[in-house]
Parts: sequence; structure tokens; C-alpha cells
Amino acid sequence: MRCLAFVSPLGGVGRTTLAAHCATLLAASGTPVLAFDLSPQNTLGLHLGLSAPPEQGWQAAVRDGGWLGEAALENSAGVRLLPHGTLAHRTSQPQGWLAEQLALLDLPTDGVAVLDTPTLPAPMAQQALLCADLVVLVLDVSPRAVHVHATWQSWIGRLQPTQRWAVALNGVDPRSAIRRGTLARLRAQWGERLLPYALHQDEHVPQAQERALCVHQSMPQAQAAHDLQGIAAWVSEALGPAPTGRQGAL
Ligand SMILES: Nc1ncnc2c1ncn2[C@@H]1O[C@H](COP(=O)(O)OP(=O)(O)OP(=O)(O)O)[C@@H](O)[C@H]1O
Ligand SMILES: [Mg+2]
Repeated sequence: MRCLAFVSPLGGVGRTTLAAHCATLLAASGTPVLAFDLSPQNTLGLHLGLSAPPEQGWQAAVRDGGWLGEAALENSAGVRLLPHGTLAHRTSQPQGWLAEQLALLDLPTDGVAVLDTPTLPAPMAQQALLCADLVVLVLDVSPRAVHVHATWQSWIGRLQPTQRWAVALNGVDPRSAIRRGTLARLRAQWGERLLPYALHQDEHVPQAQERALCVHQSMPQAQAAHDLQGIAAWVSEALGPAPTGRQGAL
């Protein structure tokens, strides 16, 4: 089982949007996918077919001493969703907890766990960072994002050599001179670390979300649908081939 995490020290940059679309597009290509909502915002399901934030989720299962997998839901696009749930109890989990839980979920070996995370330095985002095979740092094209480069080293300094990371930019808008300037600065900062596709600012993203859909489902010809398909294809390639071995249960 491979693990993909969308992380950021900035809020509202598109982590949940990217996680939902990559989960859906990977599932569409035949990969067993678990979309794991680690954020107390509990919004991942709202991109994946749920009309309201799910009350029940893995937090309640853990609180009651149960197995996380009990909280999993399946959507019509073939994505298994593990919602956070509305309960946000405050006890922090020990280091390594998330990696252990992912192993206990017993996902198929050709499967991918897609982690949507709270904003760094939230402890659960740090756990995701440490256990993902591929970490995607999500930044919006904004002046605040230009400051992330200086502090990111302290985060990636903790990664194992086998872990890969890359940067996804969201909110590209060629019509805005300010954003064009910021985009140029971000490109100069991150260079080869940038994904070859960035996500454009596109009203079809929130519109799709209002319908609990992904953009390629609600407006396939939208710029954002094209961008997100490119990002998902890149991620799929970067995750590498599925390891061979036993097939899991979930
Ligand atoms: N490319 C885009 N164009 C237009 N709107 C977008 C785009 N990407 C995301 N949005 C909108 O921006 C908002 C924030 O996106 P999202 O929830 O994915 O970010 P996040 O990083 O997960 O935020 P949070 O810190 O709240 O978890 C959502 O309303 C989403 O629909
Ligand atoms: Mg989010």
C-alpha cells in the first residue's frame, strides 16, 4: 500500500480539493483508494458525494476503542472514504500512531491511501508527513506562500530518504498581474520541485464542491478538470508501481 499526503503550513490552499480529486481519479484508473480525512474540518466527504459533513468518523471509532476501518464509507466513484467525523476530541496520538493505523487497515498492496491533513504544525499533519511515500506541499499563488520556502526545510529535514516530496501550486490566474508576479517568484523558489501542472483559479471548483462532485464529473471541459487530471496522473506516476504481494482486506 502506498501513501500520498497533501500538506501545507497555510490554510485554505486546496489540500482537500487536491486529495479528493486525486483519490477519485486514481480510483477511476482502477487503483483501490482510501481517502483518509485527518482534518477536524471534516470536509473531504463533501467533495466525494456527501451532502453534509459526516457525523460519524474514525475519531469516534478510536474514542470508543474500536477499529478505524469501521467508519469507512464507499462512494459511487469507488473511493473508500474514512471521514474524520464531527467529534474533535483533543487527546493527541503518540508518534507513529498513524503509520500503525494504516497498517491495521490492511489495504490491498496495490492500493493508495490519500491523506487530507490539517494545517501544519497540527500533530496529525506531522504524522502524515512522516509516513507518506509521497508528500505534496500545497501552496496558493499568494504573497504569504512566498515565505514558506524559508521554513519548509525544517519539515522536510525529518523525511526518510525513501520519501519523496513535491510542490503543487493552486490559484494560478494569468489575468491578474499580482498573481503572475507571485507565480514567477514561486517558480524561481521551487524550481524542479514543482509539479508540471498547477491548478488554475476556477469557479468550477467550488461549484463542483457544492454538488459534492469532482470537477471532471460536473464540468469535464473546465480548466480545473484538465489541471487536476494532470496532477493526478503525475502523482500516480510518482507513487510508482504497486508493490507485489498479499492483497489486503479493506
Ligand atoms: N483552483 C481553485 N479555484 C477556485 N476555488 C478553489 C480552488 N481550489 C480550491 N478552491 C476553493 O477554496 C476553498 C478552500 O479549498 P480547500 O478546502 O481544498 O483548501 P484546504 O487547504 O483543504 O483548506 P483548509 O485549511 O480549510 O483545510 C474551497 O472552498 C474550495 O472550493
Ligand atoms: Mg482541508
